[in-house]
Parts: sequence; structure tokens; C-alpha cells
Amino acid sequence: MSTSPVNQNEQDNHSMIRFRVEPRPLPAVKDLHLDGVFGNFDDIVDREIAACEKSEDKFDQEKARFFRYLKSHVDSQKFGEMQEFQLSGQGKLRLESDMVKYIDPAIWFDSKLRMALRVGLNRRDPIDILDIGTGPAHFPVVAEFYGHRVIGTDVPYKRTGELEPGNLYEALGQLYKVSRIPLRIEQYVPLPDFGRRFGMVTAFLAAFNVDSEGKPWTIDAWKFFLKDLHDNVLAEGGELFMSLANGKLTDEVWDYLSERAVFTNKHRVIHFTDLAQFA
Ligand SMILES: C[S@@+](CC[C@H](N)C(=O)[O-])C[C@H]1O[C@@H](n2cnc3c(N)ncnc32)[C@H](O)[C@@H]1O
Repeated sequence: MSTSPVNQNEQDNHSMIRFRVEPRPLPAVKDLHLDGVFGNFDDIVDREIAACEKSEDKFDQEKARFFRYLKSHVDSQKFGEMQEFQLSGQGKLRLESDMVKYIDPAIWFDSKLRMALRVGLNRRDPIDILDIGTGPAHFPVVAEFYGHRVIGTDVPYKRTGELEPGNLYEALGQLYKVSRIPLRIEQYVPLPDFGRRFGMVTAFLAAFNVDSEGKPWTIDAWKFFLKDLHDNVLAEGGELFMSLANGKLTDEVWDYLSERAVFTNKHRVIHFTDLAQFA
């Protein structure tokens, strides 16, 4: 493992990140992720904790608490083995794809912690959550930290209909001990029977809301999806919380959705608490 004084000026404490894999530029990954992609898991987490402990900001204090939990929850040695394998180029991960950025624990857990706090998961009694397109599974880890039960879904491997073995998301899901099931959302196709109802459905940049040609869903397709969630997936009073990708959303659809939501912002984050309006 090599050691490098990257970020020494930014963080006077805990500046030395040991690198599990020698860092190198990655074409589709921003520099801010490189320490997290190549660095030793515990060192990266410790650096986040140290920075937060110096702050009196309430979010930073909560973040320090979460990252301490994360350190105890994840086997750093196994995380390192995953990094070596995935970054060797011998697995299924294409190193020129932007998917590599999801190895970074620091930035993504920070953003999913903010999402969880936005809908008050820290203040609620335990609920069941279905996280559509969970990918690297950062959100389920945060929700479980607050005592909720989460099932993540991801697109199945075409050949088997199961989750793809050796896939980076699958590897991260295992390291983070998150339940993941195969599920592709398609327009006008109801979700399966999960054998339970959920208090919340979440979907973050999950890219499901396009048709087979990649065109954004119409309002009608959205109505079908929202009614199905209400009728078959959510418990009474269940909520829907998403962040939607700009390119997969028309202005007309955004106007329709945002008029019916309790919260939206310019990043296309949207929260519905009354799904009965779509029944
Ligand atoms: C950009 S990643 C986001 C992952 C994660 N939600 C996050 O915020 O880090 C997009 C995810 O959406 C999933 N996805 C794409 N199309 C989907 C579909 N039709 N149904 C369900 N999930 C889909 C992908 O497999 C991937 O896990």
C-alpha cells in the first residue's frame, strides 16, 4: 500500500491517506472522488470524522456519528480487496466509465445522509423502505443506521434475470450488507408483489422513467406508476421521495409532478406524501 500527502493543505489533520491502489487519473471521474476511489477505507472515513469533529455545525456532528458507525459496519480489508479487483481492469467494471466514482464512500454517503435527513428518517419510527435503482447502496446503509428496513432494487442481468455477479454495485451491496433484488421498472408495467407494503419508496437518479427508446415518460406513464405505487406497493400514508435526472424529464412532466408534491428543489428532488391523489 502506498502513502501520499494528497490533501495535506486541505486537511491539516489526518492528511495521510494510504492508497490501496496507486492513484491515477480516471477519464470519467472527477478529481474530488480520487482519494475515495483509491484510498484505504478506514483512512477515508477517519478523515471525514476528523473534519466533522472540528465543526460545531449540527449536520457535521451527525455526519461524524454516521461515519463512526460506517467504520464499524464495513470490513476495510474486504473493501480493499474489492478495490484491487475492480480497479485492476480484470473484472466487469469499465475503468473509463463514470460508475467507478461510486467506489468513493466519502462524497456519496455525505449526500445520502443529507437526503435521509431531508425526509426526517432520523426522527421516525422504523419503516420499510423500497429503494428503486439502489446501485451502490449508499442510501440503504444510511436508512438502516436510523433503524429502518430497506430493500434495494437494481436492474437484472439480461442473461439470467438475476443481479449480475462481479458487478461493482453487487460487490458494494455485499460490503455494505444491503438486501438487493433484481427489478427493472418499465412503463405501464405494475411492480411485483413484494409480500409487504412499504412506508416509503425512494429512487435517486434511478433512470427508470424512460421508454424503450430512451424517451422521457409521458404524464400518462407517470400516472400509471404513481397509481400502482399507491394501490399495490405503499402502505396507507406511504411516501415517495426521489431525485430525478434532468435529461429524463420533460418540463411538462416536472410541472405536473411538482404541483402535486410537498417538496421540490432545483436539483429535481421531489417528495410526495399524498399518493392517494393518484389512486
Ligand atoms: C446513477 S445510478 C444511481 C444509483 C443510486 N440510486 C444512487 O443514487 O447512488 C442509476 C441506477 O438506476 C438503475 N436503473 C436504471 N434503469 C432502471 C430501471 N428501468 N429500473 C430500475 N432501476 C434502473 C441502475 O441500475 C442504477 O443502479
